[in-house]
Amino acid sequence: MQDLIASSIKYQQGTLTVLDQYLLPHQQHWHVCNDVETMKDLILTLKIRGAPLIGLGASLLVAHLAEQGMSQSALAVAIDELEATRPTAVNLMHCMAKLRVALAETDFVTAVVATAEQLFKEDIALCDSMAERGAALVDKGDNILTHCNTGALATAGVGTALGVIYKAQQRHGDIHVWVDETRPLLQGGRLTAFELERWQIPYTLICDNMAASLMAAGKVDKIFVGADRIAANGDFANKVGTYNLAVLAHFHNIPFYVVAPLTTLDTQTLCGADIEIEQRSPNEVRGVSGSFGEAMWAPTNAKVYNPAFDVTPASLVTGWVLDSGVYNQSDIEQGILKQLKS
Ligand code: MRU
Repeated sequence: MQDLIASSIKYQQGTLTVLDQYLLPHQQHWHVCNDVETMKDLILTLKIRGAPLIGLGASLLVAHLAEQGMSQSALAVAIDELEATRPTAVNLMHCMAKLRVALAETDFVTAVVATAEQLFKEDIALCDSMAERGAALVDKGDNILTHCNTGALATAGVGTALGVIYKAQQRHGDIHVWVDETRPLLQGGRLTAFELERWQIPYTLICDNMAASLMAAGKVDKIFVGADRIAANGDFANKVGTYNLAVLAHFHNIPFYVVAPLTTLDTQTLCGADIEIEQRSPNEVRGVSGSFGEAMWAPTNAKVYNPAFDVTPASLVTGWVLDSGVYNQSDIEQGILKQLKS
């Protein structure tokens, strides 16, 4: 496989390495990944995360194993196991479906490698298109609120919602970003703040529960978020807390945009209620852990509800910023998503 390099994943001279997103921003540690168990663990512990990147990481590993001589039947098992790691982000299923098609070819090694390379390069191009289209919605001087991490760390390219912000800053300058810290795993505080700092884009970090008062004070002009799965009717799953923002945006009359590539569309799923939501460990809510160690503040056995994602109904979305264009509610009602996916 040819060398493929992104912010948080690299395939270089036959070695696959993954930047540990759990240890960022204070430690930059790269894991070498040579086997399915390691990749499964990296995905399950969110060391590799973000809808597009999970699919790409799993794909590069499968291609690497194919080149290393793994049999067709063992590769099929690897694809099934990797696909089962996280249930909500559909990009993983999209990538694994493409690899299954390649695996059925007579020269499956060449086909699997070509597919993984193509998925990686396609993601870079999709990010560029979304960024271009989304940046056209941003005005000089905008205060933009975002949730979770949707930047270069989460994709092979510049990102989804954060890619829009990056492009808008390049185009007009004078952008300021309100960064939701994104409890429980703090992707905003750890990763989005890290990326904005690296890109020298002015930002202010807030706790998630501060967004309402900012909106009431007129300090948020637009909201851009990513998605882990968009259903046929435009409902979408994204990091838990996104729905709160959509409701608040509606109340305060603030434009609310979701930014996602074609690989995040799932038109087999008719509406948001049908999207499986990943439930995660209670300890993620009882306390917090990271490069600094672990702190648990709740009673050890506190009962916890910890869905990783929530669903935002299409009725609360101002625009769907996809790689192919920006669509409104009437486009969605007329079935544009199904057309795009066919
Ligand atoms: O649990 P995570 O960190 O993988 O969740 C990531 C998100 O929810 C992102 O907003 C999403 O993947 C879209 S953009 C990369």
